[in-house]
Amino acid sequence: MIGDYLWWQTGIIYQIYPRSYQDSNGDGLGDLAGIRRRLDYLQKLGVTAVWLSPIYPSPMHDFGYDVANYTDIHPIFGTMADFDALLADAHERGLKLILDLVPNHTSDEHAWFQESRRSRTNPKRDWYIWRDPAPDGGPPNNWLSFFGGPAWTFDEATGQYYLHQFVTQQPELNYRHPDVLPAMLDNMRFWLDKGVDGFRVDVIWLMMKDELLRDEPPNPGWDSVDPHGSLNHIYTQSVPGIHDLIRQMRGVLDEYDERMMVGEIYLPFDELMAYYGRSQDECHMPFNFHLIANRNWQATAVRELVEAYEAALPPNGWPNWVLGNHDQHRIATRVGLAQARVANMLLLTLRGTPTTYYGEEIGMEDGHIPPEFVQDPPAVNQPEIAHIVGRDPERTPMQWDASPHAGFTTAAAQPWLPAAANFSTRNVAQQENEATSMLNLYRALTALRRAEPALMVGDYATVETAVADIFAYRRTHPGADSFLVVLNFGQGTHRLDVGDVGETAVIVVATDMVRHGPVTLSDLSVRPNEGLILRISSL
Ligand code: NOJ
Repeated sequence: MIGDYLWWQTGIIYQIYPRSYQDSNGDGLGDLAGIRRRLDYLQKLGVTAVWLSPIYPSPMHDFGYDVANYTDIHPIFGTMADFDALLADAHERGLKLILDLVPNHTSDEHAWFQESRRSRTNPKRDWYIWRDPAPDGGPPNNWLSFFGGPAWTFDEATGQYYLHQFVTQQPELNYRHPDVLPAMLDNMRFWLDKGVDGFRVDVIWLMMKDELLRDEPPNPGWDSVDPHGSLNHIYTQSVPGIHDLIRQMRGVLDEYDERMMVGEIYLPFDELMAYYGRSQDECHMPFNFHLIANRNWQATAVRELVEAYEAALPPNGWPNWVLGNHDQHRIATRVGLAQARVANMLLLTLRGTPTTYYGEEIGMEDGHIPPEFVQDPPAVNQPEIAHIVGRDPERTPMQWDASPHAGFTTAAAQPWLPAAANFSTRNVAQQENEATSMLNLYRALTALRRAEPALMVGDYATVETAVADIFAYRRTHPGADSFLVVLNFGQGTHRLDVGDVGETAVIVVATDMVRHGPVTLSDLSVRPNEGLILRISSL
């Protein structure tokens, strides 16, 4: 801890998709013992908190985001003893462990839904959202699933529809029923009592729905690609009552020391900020996905969004940045390998907690998924737009080395998704031995961020360079060295005059991992796709 800052403010979060990280028993699926084996790697990488995508019992229709039991471990990932051992080992190394909480919906195999669907009079009936068919026998309203088709499925046995905004096997809980939230809060306490450091909360802004279940109006700005975007989701997203719900979840975290909740929320900045809560009493951090949502990887566009975010943050709202996750095409695929280095430098020098998706530290790209391997529901349900909405490509096995299946599983095993084609040349072992690799760049960036108060918690200010391809900024903290970060998003070489910042400075990390040493700031040359971090010593 530095000053009054907490671990999730000074830290670096690393997301692991457990199915894909490390298999320890040769079944082709990653597991907890595998992750435990890689704790040395994570520690050396310099990340400080690990977020695991869901590891609970699940029929895996949405790969674990359909939870059948919130307080147990799926046998494919191991046992509760494996989990306890992982938590203890992580803590011993000073690493925090964050679990994925999925409160919006359960699996249809969860005991609550099994009861709920039994009869219209079952005491758990209204724990979920059931409605009679419309007069024509169709769904009760026009709401859509994110994964294609209507958000309603008809249940023959009881003659009503139930709501699900993802796969049909993910019925949505009804948080207007007084017993549902307390039951979910108990699930949180189960893990917090074990010592888990916090939760990433799945689709937190979707948890309340319009009480009257009104039709959603058409979205005039729809790009006509993903059908879910054809409606304006005013009755399923950020619905009144949501903030009260989140405050109660936060209340549970506050029963413990220094636990954290980061909410999954895809919203514009002005709407996102409400999720910190009026008195900072909701999410510790609502995830900021704007480096993903912004498809324009250009210096001016990225600068504008950084400035807009900084300006929109409420007082005491702690910022955060994310380059990728298990639902998004990988950053190296989106912007290319050279710019992926710049992106990592950006992520690890901005003000706010960085979150890295596994493999970003070595420049993993989306894998090619042969048709027989396609298994992600939005891709399976909507083959015409599978290449856009399918998420298998960003979930391929972690690329550890050049051995079969990238060292993810044993040679004889069939991994659940094939390793990306480039694994024999782009992997941890190979980059370990190469001084200028992306992996070593990533390590240099985390080491610098952790050592320097200005980078870890300091203020942010844009620096004008008058060059459209360059985004430059300064990070400062009282009594500590300050840093100038210069990022070239373009292919040209530029000579900058940033003499206003100081006369001279020293390059401490460059994206090529070669350039270093003193420079004159009134005549600073920046090469194509180059990022530089320069130390400006305090007087
Ligand atoms: C968001 C998760 O990140 C995604 O993977 C999942 O499919 C949906 N929520 C539904 O839980």
